[in-house]
Amino acid sequence: MAESKYVKEFLDIFSKFGYRYSKWEVWNDFLYMAAASMANLVPTQEREEREQRYLSIINKYPKEFQNLFPELLGIVTLALSENPEQDFLGSMYHRLQLHQEQKGQFFTPYHISHFMAEINMVGVDEEERQRKGFITVSDPACGAGAMLIAFANVAKAHGINYQKEVLFFAQDIDLTAALMCYVQLSILGCPAIVIVGDSLVKPDFHPDNEIWYTPFYYLNHWRFHSFFEEKEAEGTGVVLDDKDVEKFAEEAGGQMIINFQNAS
Ligand SMILES: C[S@@+](CC[C@H](N)C(=O)[O-])C[C@H]1O[C@@H](n2cnc3c(N)ncnc32)[C@H](O)[C@@H]1O
Repeated sequence: MAESKYVKEFLDIFSKFGYRYSKWEVWNDFLYMAAASMANLVPTQEREEREQRYLSIINKYPKEFQNLFPELLGIVTLALSENPEQDFLGSMYHRLQLHQEQKGQFFTPYHISHFMAEINMVGVDEEERQRKGFITVSDPACGAGAMLIAFANVAKAHGINYQKEVLFFAQDIDLTAALMCYVQLSILGCPAIVIVGDSLVKPDFHPDNEIWYTPFYYLNHWRFHSFFEEKEAEGTGVVLDDKDVEKFAEEAGGQMIINFQNAS
């Protein structure tokens, strides 16, 4: 299959940073700003901190370089709209040779992820799905999210509206990987919780972990209450803090938002 024109466009824009900045720095700055601009669509507890970090990053660059970041994000969005069946950022990360071999960062080729998603779909308990109204899918070493992107596409092909009926759960020890996953799942409209932390030592909502909720998660969070009730019952989950919900709802001008806190 011919390579999408967006691959070349992305790499061309990326190369404009030249040798003035390291590829690694530009990649991470791009990801953080893309992720923060999506996360900050919702007035969360972390909003101010993320906004400040966004500003400190963008202000490092002169105007002509600042404009390249939204261009890169535009290309990622167009590439995923043209073909949602791909791990676009994961492949750019490899093409730019930024992957960290010491962390085992070799992302699964999309067709293998697709095959594995199909296998997982066989395990979906249809009765439970109907009763709960949703299914969950988790990748505790998510990388750029190839497996979860494939699951979204396979769910859609099986008649499941993944934007409403699937709760995506992702974790990676590496912030760069987790943010690639966050940005792609956000663009695809997946309700997702992306966690930065060691899934062996500090799984899920461990207090040391950094958590990123996608915009579609906030739109649909009420659908997934039973998931959190189960987590809470296991003692591994989260509880709603009513005071914070009220405070943020007030700040958001009455708009209802939810804040999750660790149960422990
Ligand atoms: C082989 S890649 C797979 C990524 C993705 N699942 C895929 O199939 O494309 C493994 C990922 O696990 C992450 N990782 C390694 N050790 C981890 C740990 N203890 N907890 C969470 N993530 C970890 C790495 O940063 C890397 O992104």
